[in-house]
Amino acid sequence: MSESKTVLVSGGAGYIGSALVSRLLSDTDLNVKVFDNLMYDGDSLLQFFNFKKFSFIKGDLRTFDLPKILSGVDFVVNLAALVGEPICKKYPKEAQEINFEANINLAKACEKHGVDRYVMMSTCSNYGLRQNQEMLTESDELQPISLYSETKVNSEKILLNELPELSTAVLRASTAYGMAARIRFDLLLHQFIYEAWEKKQINLYGANSWRPMVHVDDIARAIVLVLTQHDKMKKKDVFNVGSNEQNFQKITLAKMVSERFDVGISEIESKNDPRDYKVSFDKIKSELNYHTTHKPQESVEQIASALESGLINNRILHE
Ligand SMILES: NC(=O)c1ccc[n+]([C@@H]2O[C@H](COP(=O)([O-])OP(=O)(O)OC[C@H]3O[C@@H](n4cnc5c(N)ncnc54)[C@H](O)[C@@H]3O)[C@@H](O)[C@H]2O)c1
Repeated sequence: MSESKTVLVSGGAGYIGSALVSRLLSDTDLNVKVFDNLMYDGDSLLQFFNFKKFSFIKGDLRTFDLPKILSGVDFVVNLAALVGEPICKKYPKEAQEINFEANINLAKACEKHGVDRYVMMSTCSNYGLRQNQEMLTESDELQPISLYSETKVNSEKILLNELPELSTAVLRASTAYGMAARIRFDLLLHQFIYEAWEKKQINLYGANSWRPMVHVDDIARAIVLVLTQHDKMKKKDVFNVGSNEQNFQKITLAKMVSERFDVGISEIESKNDPRDYKVSFDKIKSELNYHTTHKPQESVEQIASALESGLINNRILHE
């Protein structure tokens, strides 16, 4: 019998990472090696230590000895990043170093090491702001309108146009929602839940703006699919991750939350986040037979009852 391959999940203690490691351990026979500097602690990983296929290395991707973490590794999924515009704006130097420079250095080390596939987690935020509401595809022009998406677009350009020996998959994920071992409350749907719970009111700007959404477990399933079907893919390939039916106007999501918590919605003016885009997910559906399995309404209910029962406590809520 051939030996199982090994996947390195960099940034694996995070929101998507914790959902991904769980899927990798249950749905594949891959060995899973997580690398993370534990910016948000490592509680999310404790559940995995009983699996023989799981191992963990603590370190900072910017400074760690890359050949050492790549030893015995066949696939790499890089999730390590400062995620979202507020934190990138607060720490612009670190955002550039982690999201761009360390990502490219890791990819270069992977090319040298000869990994089978490098998966970079990118974002649909790269599509930015659109006047008309056409469904954007992987070949449409990117319009980064924040430092966060600039670091992602610049990384994509190098990964897709340089490093010719490195098989690469760029996954542009929709905005995530849903339960995972590390849950974050700074993402659109969760932010509405946070406000409804803490402030008894939802503040909404850009009510009619469109945003594609995807459950965190469905992102994990997409990554697993890419790793298990990587030999069907092009050497350099890009996929939007989500589903056409989960392009939502922000007001629709806000109403879902306001009804569950019985709170009002206050529409406010703000130029803070002008993102407005609808995305097509036809490619991942037709080429990898990918379908999403969760819906936001279910997550609103699950997170609401976890808050009401105290399962999500103040520490988690304010992290
Ligand atoms: N959450 C979303 O809605 C979303 C959507 C699209 C794309 N993405 C991308 O997916 C990836 C994961 O996002 P997430 O929501 O899980 O974020 P997260 O902040 O929960 O996880 C990021 C992880 O990276 C680790 N990390 C950060 N800097 C590091 C460093 N220098 N060295 C080692 N580890 C480091 C952190 O400790 C954390 O565990 C990111 O690249 C993000 O841009 C996220």
